Amino acid sequence: MDLFRYRQGRLFCEDVPVADLADRFGTPLYVYSAGTLRLHYEKLAKAFAALEPLICYSVKVCSNIHILRLLAEMGSGFDIVSGGELFRVLEAGGDPATCCFAGVAKTDAEIRYALEAGIRMFNVESEQELQNLARLARDTGRRARAALRVNPDVDPRTHRFITTGKKETKFGVDLERAECVWRTFAASDGARWVDLAGVQAHIGSQITTVEPYVQALGKIVALVDRLAEAGIRIATLDFGGGFGAEYEGGEALAAEAFAGAMIPILEGRGLEILMEPGRFIAGNAGILLTQVQYVKPAGDRTFLLCDSGMNHLIRPALYGSYHHVWPVDPGEDFAPRQRIRDEAFPGTVVVDVVGPICESSDFFGKDRHLPPVVRGDRLAVFSAGAYGMSMASEYNAFPRPAEVLVHGSEARLIRRRGTYEDLVAPEKDL
Ligand code: LLP
Repeated sequence: MDLFRYRQGRLFCEDVPVADLADRFGTPLYVYSAGTLRLHYEKLAKAFAALEPLICYSVKVCSNIHILRLLAEMGSGFDIVSGGELFRVLEAGGDPATCCFAGVAKTDAEIRYALEAGIRMFNVESEQELQNLARLARDTGRRARAALRVNPDVDPRTHRFITTGKKETKFGVDLERAECVWRTFAASDGARWVDLAGVQAHIGSQITTVEPYVQALGKIVALVDRLAEAGIRIATLDFGGGFGAEYEGGEALAAEAFAGAMIPILEGRGLEILMEPGRFIAGNAGILLTQVQYVKPAGDRTFLLCDSGMNHLIRPALYGSYHHVWPVDPGEDFAPRQRIRDEAFPGTVVVDVVGPICESSDFFGKDRHLPPVVRGDRLAVFSAGAYGMSMASEYNAFPRPAEVLVHGSEARLIRRRGTYEDLVAPEKDL
């Protein structure tokens, strides 16, 4: 569900014709719908209301400070993974007391920065990190709150590169070991400086079934119960993110479906609940606009050569992800009813939609049925709000795209287009 719609053969973001945005701000351009971001945040808040969770939006997903501000204003906290992400949250006016810090290899400098900022919780990934946190907390004279990230060893049934809750991945501490960590730490000197009050898990991303969560939570609450028997009370449970967005249409589950399966396992236990959704909130709230520079027939294929590619949206190259692509102004005959893979339109032609980068992995889509496209047409790459701009690079020395946030009939530039000077600035005046 999102607020990008075709009306009379033209794509609109909320009430703004997308072609007008391309005219005004140029391409490549990320366009976000504020209404869609809010809608998805509210869906989660409503579905999980029985648990009164703190929703910590995962900053890595789409980290523009104006988007962080919009979410902070809705009451969101933040899941951060680096000092840089904490800096972004603070720049956005976010409250550090709503931040949980989940970096896998936090440096001393990052831990000190977070201690001094007064974040809510450190999500600790290893025993060594726990000891280091205690040392730095003592040095800075600030007691820290922490959750131990556990690895529940469940299969989230998603792409292997975004699977994190299986034993063979680098994330968290396995459940047996976790129990020992608590018992040992509770009796150690470090406990004076770190309140290890929480358990955290994040099993993967783009998850579209409830079973992996049910399995993981079952194992985690059993651990919480075993610890309680040993006199160790866990106050906070953070179940991470992972809820899927729509890419092909119809695959994402409603927030209520997840909530309906998860709430019964968690409610009535007196636990403070945190969650770290990202993609569910931002995935369908953004598109990437690109302009076709050339149309090139080659053998039995036709390439649409665009002004943006894997440098600005790396997901197809990295995970083989599907992103729907369709012209911005296809005309009434080609106005899609909904965004689904290969909607059969008479008159479409088969094309590969590719970028300007010198790599064969540089494509948005292959063998796509698109309306006839000519040089100069603009294409929308859909469902690009999550892990789009935040994973963009300056590879091949193309400056980063601009970003625009649409609210109703208003469009606001929230990041200016990168410049050639931006490319070399950090290399000068050394
Ligand atoms: N919490 C932690 C600890 C995480 O590692 C992540 C994502 C999230 C929360 C948010 O997960 P979400 O709700 O967005 O699924 N670049 C990949 C996805 C990488 C996910 C990294 N961790 C992609 O484009 O599919």
